[in-house]
Amino acid sequence: MAVLTANGLVKIYGSEPGALVHALNGIDLAIELGEFVAIMGPSGSGKTTLLNILAGLDKPSGGQLVIDGEPVQALSGDALALFRRRKLGFVFQDFNLLDTLTLAENVALPLALDRRPAREVRKLVEGVMARFGLEESQGRYPYEVSGGQQQRTAVARAIVHQPALVLADEPTGNLDSASARTLLETFATLHAEGSTTILMVTHDPIAASYSDRIVFIQDGKVYSRLEREGTREAFFQEILHTLSILEVSGVDIRPTRP
Ligand SMILES: Nc1ncnc2c1ncn2[C@@H]1O[C@H](COP(=O)(O)OP(=O)(O)OP(=O)(O)O)[C@@H](O)[C@H]1O
Ligand SMILES: [Mg+2]
Repeated sequence: MAVLTANGLVKIYGSEPGALVHALNGIDLAIELGEFVAIMGPSGSGKTTLLNILAGLDKPSGGQLVIDGEPVQALSGDALALFRRRKLGFVFQDFNLLDTLTLAENVALPLALDRRPAREVRKLVEGVMARFGLEESQGRYPYEVSGGQQQRTAVARAIVHQPALVLADEPTGNLDSASARTLLETFATLHAEGSTTILMVTHDPIAASYSDRIVFIQDGKVYSRLEREGTREAFFQEILHTLSILEVSGVDIRPTRP
């Protein structure tokens, strides 16, 4: 079953002729239930633009997008807000936790916004925090815990309402390598359980090696795809190989951020 189908997505920024930026030039993408897909591409290739469109944060200039059976472009206002709240989960590079709320309150946000009964909220929040080893930190504030714990809290918040699709933009970008590994193993476990569908944008070949499948984009177009067949280590080598071919062919794949 397809969770996401995008056909011919185009995004043009600007309105002045001569000053238009063609950020997406016809992207086709299909993601099945339970898949873990990574998007890689050089700086400025359109990754964030694509993610923002998939997230309903921005409208495409052309093309079609269907997520969990809903034609996203047709939605606006409250219907769009409801769709995003119920069907999507987000993990950002800089965690985006609210400093004035405890970790448990941050995780509860998607449910509270949906006015779910307090008892149900408590049960879901406790369950998801326990699975990420955050039970001891529930009452703490984001500034009282480590970056890794903050990011695990952000992942807990992204999945607590069992969204159809989790969208992550450089989720390991601000983590040390041990915390990044924990986060990626969390994604891999959610994925192995079969019910969570994850789309992750990353510059990092190690992060990408945890996915099933990679879509490489360049100049707003898909220019290569890679599917994992063997072990993660073997997939990592294949990714490096693909990136080195692209480097030789002049595509700059170096990360923009450290
Ligand atoms: N709001 C905007 N207005 C005009 N141009 C934009 C806007 N947002 C992005 N762009 C341009 O669209 C292109 C794609 O940008 P985007 O942010 O999607 O790239 P990216 O692949 O996420 O890059 P990075 O790896 O640096 O995060 C770039 O040329 C960028 O300058
Ligand atoms: Mg980006």
